[in-house]
Amino acid sequence: MSFKPQYRSGAEIRQTFLDFYAARGHQIVPSASLIPEDPTVLLTIAGMLPFKPIFLGQRPAPFPRATSSQKCIRTNDIENVGRTARHHTFFEMLGNFSFGDYFKDKAIAWAWELSTEVFGLPPERLVVSVFREDDEAFAIWRDQIGIPAHRIQRMDEADNFWVSGPTGPCGPCSEIYYDFHPERGDDTIDLEDDTRFIEFYNLVFMQYNRDVEGHLTPLQAQNIDTGMGLERMAQILQQVPNNYETDLILPIIKTAAAIAGLDYAQCDAKTQVSLKVIGDHVRAIVHLIADGVTASNLGRGYVLRRLIRRVVRHGRLIGIDREFTADVAATAIALAEAVYPNTRERQAVIQAELQREEARFLETLERGEKLLTDMIARATPKTGQQPGQIAGKDAFILYDTYGFPLELTQEIAEEQGLTVDVAGFEAAMEEQRRRSQEAHETIDLTVQGSLDQLAEHIHATVFRGYTDLTTQSVVEAVLVNGKQVPAAPAGSQVQIVLRETPFYAESGGQIGDRGYLLAADMPSPLTPLSPDEGSSELRVRITDVQKESDFFIHYGEVEAGTLRVGDRVTAQIDVACRRRAQANHTATHLLQAALKKIVDPAISQAGSLVAFDRLRFDFNCPRPLTLEELEQVEAQVNAWIAAATPATVAVMPIAEAKAKGAIAMFGEKYGDQVRVVDYPGVSMELCGGTHVANTAEIGLFKIIAETGIASGVRRIEAVAGQAALDYLTVRDRIVRELGDRFKAKPEELPDRIASLQSELKSAQKQLEQLKAELAIAKSDSLVTQAETVGSFHLLVTQLDGVDAEALKTAAERLQQKLGPQAAVVLGSVLAPDKVSLVAAFGPEVQAKGMQAGKFIGAIAKLCGGGGGGRPNLAQAGGRDASQLPAALRSAQEELQAALRG
Ligand code: SER
Repeated sequence: MSFKPQYRSGAEIRQTFLDFYAARGHQIVPSASLIPEDPTVLLTIAGMLPFKPIFLGQRPAPFPRATSSQKCIRTNDIENVGRTARHHTFFEMLGNFSFGDYFKDKAIAWAWELSTEVFGLPPERLVVSVFREDDEAFAIWRDQIGIPAHRIQRMDEADNFWVSGPTGPCGPCSEIYYDFHPERGDDTIDLEDDTRFIEFYNLVFMQYNRDVEGHLTPLQAQNIDTGMGLERMAQILQQVPNNYETDLILPIIKTAAAIAGLDYAQCDAKTQVSLKVIGDHVRAIVHLIADGVTASNLGRGYVLRRLIRRVVRHGRLIGIDREFTADVAATAIALAEAVYPNTRERQAVIQAELQREEARFLETLERGEKLLTDMIARATPKTGQQPGQIAGKDAFILYDTYGFPLELTQEIAEEQGLTVDVAGFEAAMEEQRRRSQEAHETIDLTVQGSLDQLAEHIHATVFRGYTDLTTQSVVEAVLVNGKQVPAAPAGSQVQIVLRETPFYAESGGQIGDRGYLLAADMPSPLTPLSPDEGSSELRVRITDVQKESDFFIHYGEVEAGTLRVGDRVTAQIDVACRRRAQANHTATHLLQAALKKIVDPAISQAGSLVAFDRLRFDFNCPRPLTLEELEQVEAQVNAWIAAATPATVAVMPIAEAKAKGAIAMFGEKYGDQVRVVDYPGVSMELCGGTHVANTAEIGLFKIIAETGIASGVRRIEAVAGQAALDYLTVRDRIVRELGDRFKAKPEELPDRIASLQSELKSAQKQLEQLKAELAIAKSDSLVTQAETVGSFHLLVTQLDGVDAEALKTAAERLQQKLGPQAAVVLGSVLAPDKVSLVAAFGPEVQAKGMQAGKFIGAIAKLCGGGGGGRPNLAQAGGRDASQLPAALRSAQEELQAALRG
């Protein structure tokens, strides 16, 4: 029953599916973003998700039938990726949908026609499943399609009742499986056996809505939602052993393998797993960043960070010891761009984000890995013992201090046949939480989910900081170790959510404000204080502010008093810091404008950092900038600063902003209303950051460096405002010190240093010469060391540090002094890979048939070199200094033998 399907590329399968349903009245709908509109799920997990409001009757259907190829991400099976033949994080789901239009019979008939007649799968290789109670579907398969009853499997709710999440539209489903091994016979059909069957098409008969309690209410209409795994169909039609080896993923795997210097087909199973993980995850990463996700410790950002970290780790496992993810991403982008052009448009952003995350993680890894190696060695069982385990508190140290997610530690442990004591890890976490309520422990807000809890009872933070530097506010929540607490005493490291805040939270590259929270309700001085009450004075130092969904998380330390939920506080930012950030931020906008004007209008932003002491601007540009361009760019920015242009900041509909020519900023997702920061005639950008009211406030702008950070991405580091003055002050001090040291005015320094350098060079030369002369002088004394062999004088010795010329002179002199019966051989080590040899033979020695040229050439060979010359005097060189003593020994023995006779 051998069957060879017609090969189809992934692109052909996608197009064939869409065309098939378009020809049957379905509207082709492009893939929606991976970031769903639906707030109940983190990511787009199925083709039906964009249509959920239609199924629920919340939105009218714009057309009765639709078909799509939807990009999806599921991370619940992340551990299986690469280990099984068909688990993915990222995959594409082909689907056909009916919104109250056709139902079971048509859905089944078309799915069958497409599978057997279009994709050409033989009916005898297909098995179907239906929901246990769905007699209607059973009957359609048996009576209308003609499938023998024993090849229609009834399955229970766990397998054949599909729900889009904990709640939402759902219904019984029917699946089509492909049989790789029909020869195993119909008696043993077990659809769970994934060495034999692969489910490739799921038809959901969507007719209920499930609520939180699990109750089903019929939907207004009977709908169809289907999903065909593109990668699975590709595996079947391309006849490859797993999804990863299809044309959709294999090129990515090959790129990674090439970087590691490996040939995928020749790799052992473990290495292939790592390569498959890289192949799978890099697709997910590319699409996540293309859709606007940036790495962070929460939600989607955490999914992205975890994927990147797993790729980096697997890269190291297969021996890649350099940054590589951006290069692998380039292949994934090349594969995706035809269908998902935003991957190419955002290539620079994707690669810059990867480069940043990878560098950051590699640092952490290096520190943590050493520690983990020790832990593994401690935990590895001796022969005859039970399997070993990494102690929970060790895993916690890795998590707490080195940022190793628990699952990463588990994964590494597993590779060594170890487990991690998860209960112990949690106990250590709990212990830490308890202690830090009493004392001073630090941990990042890395606990996912705590914000979901917050969202249930508090409102989004209101940002007042565009206009106010101080705000009266109320403490909405206090977190210690990522968990909510009612109060935090002095010494606690806390994260705080305020009702309103003047603090800017890190975003759009600008870092968060610094400052203080103080008690707003300090008792009036008229009310006498008891000593105890005096301690109610509150002071919290805020060291960072991060935005997590709608909340501004203020990171800080309670320096005095006790911080309580519900406290009224005065929130005040550090104004000097804010001014510095503003100067750097506006300077970044001016820098972008100047680059477009002077270097290339096509330059666009790939990333940025606006800190208090510096700024960084990453942009797409295929080549380094010239020094001249950099000087012009800097001069242009300073000219704009001097022109004292006032800012106009306005909120307007995005269409209007775009029509005005405002440029969009990296990594931001824009709503309908956008904030436009405009320095008329100079720069207009969509930006949520804080800026100077007038360019003159920046004062000064200075470029510090221009470098390449990924292929086609350049980075300019610069300083503006106070930071520029600080930078120049330090430079000035250095120049002054140099001036003192070299006794020169600053403008004389380059010449002064150049002349010192040339003096140094000639002094060095002189020194070399003197050394040689000294060696020659010393060599005269070597005469006494000559050995007498019969009537001959033989001198073979080593004189290090003497260059070839001096060595020759010395040999010649020694031979003359010793007379016509003398043979002199000298060797000198000039560097570990540089040896000089010379032989001087008197006429009597030559008369014995010895030729200096031939002789020294043979000796030089022993030191990895060669040479030769005249019979009386010859020179040679070698490359291996370590062999010189042995070579000289053999010269001596040979000469002794030759002259004795
Ligand atoms: N929603 C179903 C699935 O994801 C069919 O498209 O399997």
